[in-house]
Amino acid sequence: PAFSEDIAAILALKEKHNAVILAHNYQTPEIFHCVADVTGDSLALARKAQEVEADVIVMAGVAFMAETAKLLNPSRTVLLPSVEAGCSLADSITAADVRLLRARYPGVPVVTYVNTSADVKAESDICCTSGNARKVIESLGVEEVIMIPDEFLAQNVAKETGVKIITWKGHCEVHERFTPEEIRAWRAAYPGLVVLAHPECPPEVVAEADFSGSTAGMSDFVASGQAGRVLLVTECSMSDNLAVDHPEVEFVRPCNLCPHMKHITLAAIRKSLEQREVEVTVDASVADRARLSIERMLAV
Ligand code: 13P
Ligand code: SF4
Repeated sequence: PAFSEDIAAILALKEKHNAVILAHNYQTPEIFHCVADVTGDSLALARKAQEVEADVIVMAGVAFMAETAKLLNPSRTVLLPSVEAGCSLADSITAADVRLLRARYPGVPVVTYVNTSADVKAESDICCTSGNARKVIESLGVEEVIMIPDEFLAQNVAKETGVKIITWKGHCEVHERFTPEEIRAWRAAYPGLVVLAHPECPPEVVAEADFSGSTAGMSDFVASGQAGRVLLVTECSMSDNLAVDHPEVEFVRPCNLCPHMKHITLAAIRKSLEQREVEVTVDASVADRARLSIERMLAV
């Protein structure tokens, strides 16, 4: 009941402004299940953003996702309901850092996680997400790549491929906090537990898991019915959202919150649509180059 007024208002505002809401898997259930038109991982949201025909895209996610949507569908108005919805990975590297890396490793291609600013993407050869990192790296047909900025994602992918990977020291503040000791303790407390870990977790945490994949990969695993008791080693809303769709599955719920994702609330989405703010734009000096690195990824 506390949410129903905002939900009704948002549904009416979507009609009024010809708007769609794209929501990441880490959005809270009242956003994810009650007002979103499209839900998914970073890769799915980028692909869907490209296809949007409505006038307005509201990104219920973080800033890099809104920028990616704007790059892929520049004639639409893209709104981000909170300017505070950033990302510790995106904040860990600048375009100048990428230029320095290129100078230090001449000729080595730069593979950039989508969790970065458009400025950083513009200095890159190709983007990747947690759902396609290995495929993107192997598509380049080289022996060595620079993979920025997530050190743990790079180390996890390095274990799956023969390509040598030069890493950066960026971390997701949500996933870096999990430890192998806590995963072992949860396994001991919950017999039969199936552990799914996001590849932004440290490699020693991923090593304790039964499966590692993007948020969409984890959703698909749960939907496949292979596990009755699940621990999702990721952001808290993932389990909340999946529990709605899979009441037959028991979700064990130690989790970490993403403060950036949690700046997006129903009230913020409502205000964003009412006042058509905060409009996301990408500087013309970087837009074409940033778009190219995302489009190269989508073509893989
Ligand atoms: P994916 O949904 O692409 O797995 O990304 C996780 C994440 O941390 C996004 O901010
Ligand atoms: Fe960034 Fe991690 Fe939050 Fe995703 S969960 S937005 S990677 S800080």
